Amino acid sequence: MSAIEDRPIGFGRLKRKEDARFIRGQGNYLDDIRLPGMVHMAILRSPFAHARINSIDTSAALALPGVAAVITAKDLETLGLAWMPTISYDTQAVLAGDKVRFQGQEVAAVIATDEYIARDALQLIDVDYEPLDAVVNARKALDADAPLIRDDKEGQIDNLASPTWEAGDEDATDKAFAEADTVVARDIIYPRCHPAPLETCGMIADFNPETGQLDIYNGNQAPHAHRTVYAHVAGLAEHMIRIRCGDIGGGFGNKVPVYPGYVCAIAGSIVAGVPVKWIEDRSENLMSTGFARDYIMKSEICAKDGKITGLRVDVIADHGAFDSTAQPTKFPAGFFHIVCGSYDLQASHVKVKAVYTNKAPGGVAYRCSFRITEAVYLVERMVDALALEMKVDPIDLRMRSFIKEDQFPYETTTGWTYDSGDYHKTMRVAMDIAGYEDLRREQAEKRARGELMGIGVSFFTEGVGAGPRKHMDILGLSMNDGADLRIHPSGKAVVSLSAQTQGQGHETTFAQIVAEELGIPPEDVEVRHGDTDKSPYGLGTYGSRSTPVSGAAVAVVSRKVRDKARAIAATILETRLEDLAWEKGRWYVKGDREQGVSIFDITKRAYSGEALPEGFEGGLDAQVIYDPPNLTYPYGAYIAVVDVDPETAHVKVRRFIAVDDCGVRINPMIVEGQIHGGLAEGIGIALMEVITFDAEGNCLNGSFMDYLIPTALEVPDFELGETVTPCPHHPLGAKGVGESPNVGSPPAIVNAVIDALYESHGVDHLDMPMTPARVWAAMQGNAEPP
Ligand code: CDP
Repeated sequence: MSAIEDRPIGFGRLKRKEDARFIRGQGNYLDDIRLPGMVHMAILRSPFAHARINSIDTSAALALPGVAAVITAKDLETLGLAWMPTISYDTQAVLAGDKVRFQGQEVAAVIATDEYIARDALQLIDVDYEPLDAVVNARKALDADAPLIRDDKEGQIDNLASPTWEAGDEDATDKAFAEADTVVARDIIYPRCHPAPLETCGMIADFNPETGQLDIYNGNQAPHAHRTVYAHVAGLAEHMIRIRCGDIGGGFGNKVPVYPGYVCAIAGSIVAGVPVKWIEDRSENLMSTGFARDYIMKSEICAKDGKITGLRVDVIADHGAFDSTAQPTKFPAGFFHIVCGSYDLQASHVKVKAVYTNKAPGGVAYRCSFRITEAVYLVERMVDALALEMKVDPIDLRMRSFIKEDQFPYETTTGWTYDSGDYHKTMRVAMDIAGYEDLRREQAEKRARGELMGIGVSFFTEGVGAGPRKHMDILGLSMNDGADLRIHPSGKAVVSLSAQTQGQGHETTFAQIVAEELGIPPEDVEVRHGDTDKSPYGLGTYGSRSTPVSGAAVAVVSRKVRDKARAIAATILETRLEDLAWEKGRWYVKGDREQGVSIFDITKRAYSGEALPEGFEGGLDAQVIYDPPNLTYPYGAYIAVVDVDPETAHVKVRRFIAVDDCGVRINPMIVEGQIHGGLAEGIGIALMEVITFDAEGNCLNGSFMDYLIPTALEVPDFELGETVTPCPHHPLGAKGVGESPNVGSPPAIVNAVIDALYESHGVDHLDMPMTPARVWAAMQGNAEPP
């Protein structure tokens, strides 16, 4: 047995390489970095949601010993940095000059010798505010007498943030509704929540006035795209900017945007000529950086002959004070129009209009692919509402309406081409794990005793892996990813990626892809990412795009190396290319397995002084840029079992069954970990997480005391299952998975709560989060808690 055959190679349940340093506390996060001469920055934020700024007096702050500079909008104006472009082609104030437009907006930045002095100095800045009426309700923002938020924009006369965007066929949808025998309508809100990564956002900017080089240390999900933005915003040459992302304590979409604090840190370092560090605290993170969701949805669904036939949706998207929502340019409502779900509909139609409110900007894809979470929530709630009306089992209705296995690739009524699936099979696996019939029997018995048990189902289809350059770009940058693979003479390999891990285990799984394709053990493959000087250009990690795009790039680049290795093997074995066959780790002569040469010996030869095939320059490496032909479409069937306490209205998720199909699994253990994490987040969103505001626009959830995230006490032992339907166009047959559980779980839980309460209390709809107060109010017949 050769050395390589002794070791686990390729796909499988390999322990995460990176965990060795994480569990020993040896991760290297932004706040661990201390540069010589580094100073610290703190940001003064607005206490008002809407107010004119009459004046800012910084003299007392400047007089505090240790304070080096106080930056205001006026200073930034002289550098041309007072406003910055957003990811959605809007503009956003870096520091407020004319007025503040949300509570927590950046007003001034203090640079001082340490972070405590910087924060103390904030208290000494005297801002003369003239409060204005605020509007935080997106529906009210459209009223004619609503205060105008974006008076900085020429020609802006109302709070509309974009023209209405549509998808699907309105006439065909009207026809489907006219022909239907059942129609159900619901108003559904996906409330504002927050990704709340463990590590908040921050940056160290280090501008060298001698060389003009700007070094940035920062935890972000898309370092290359950030560098391009900084080059434009700061007018610096892109190659003179280097971004290094070390370990990142979670991103979940929160670390995709460019925040004003980053621009201030860069401006601060350019002005001060020393490294400037800025790290926000928890309240700043919750109150002012990228929120998620905040979709107000009006919808109707219809059925004919027992099958779902049509869906129409009218959405108001609340974008906050600046439109910095994350989405590919041509999709102003992200991928929301995947709202037709997993069903073979006759027609559907979607309208979305966006609105400015006096709330923090964002609209980030919190563990989702650009609004798919909102879409899945909507359709899965609507299907359940329809099942209630039709008095049929919600799984029966789904089974009758699913796209069938032989319909793939399937063109949806809003223009998506789903790649592959067997929805019926996946649903049946979930029913088997749950023991669905037994659960319904148990529920009937409990109901007879006055106990409130609910069983909730959701079935989601996602579109992840943005995306094909013919359809998708962000700020004009195509959504392709690069990979660069080098095999060293010793046989060890380095693969550089444009994907950026934030804890998803890329150092392990991408090494496994190289291992699977080349037979080099994963421990001998180093995965490099997060340094713009050392990794190929690409758009980063969000929307579960790593496996569909960068994973594919790594497979393709490995195959390129394998092809080169084949030519070298032919030279070594003195045979023709077509006479060689590959098995993991070696090329051998067809019909004579003994006559072969391993990838290690091929590599040695590639670097040796011995003859190489004609045209070969020596060494063994390859580069690719991968343009995915389509998104990948993972899907899953989720079943939640809840108990609602009739005395306290507390919802307990007793069981949660998740059957995911993400195509071929590279590392099933990591996939399961991803699913566990996403399900926990989904439980949080469904039951307790929300960012709300009072009428004046004060944010009511600015700390973990009042923005509740789930703990081990709130999550059950998850029961996972899988089906494997390979993606036909991905080189490995893999689809993304990271966000699926966050997408699929909230509707299952909400459907379960409604299922628990409908018969006894007549509750047929309730918006998230399902806090005891809200559930209790619904049980008393009130829509909202008192
Ligand atoms: O973009 P992000 O890394 O967040 O999401 P992903 O592509 O869904 O991958 C999450 C993690 O699961 C990565 O470590 C993947 O390599 C792994 N994964 C896998 O092992 N098999 C799949 N079919 C999908 C993801």
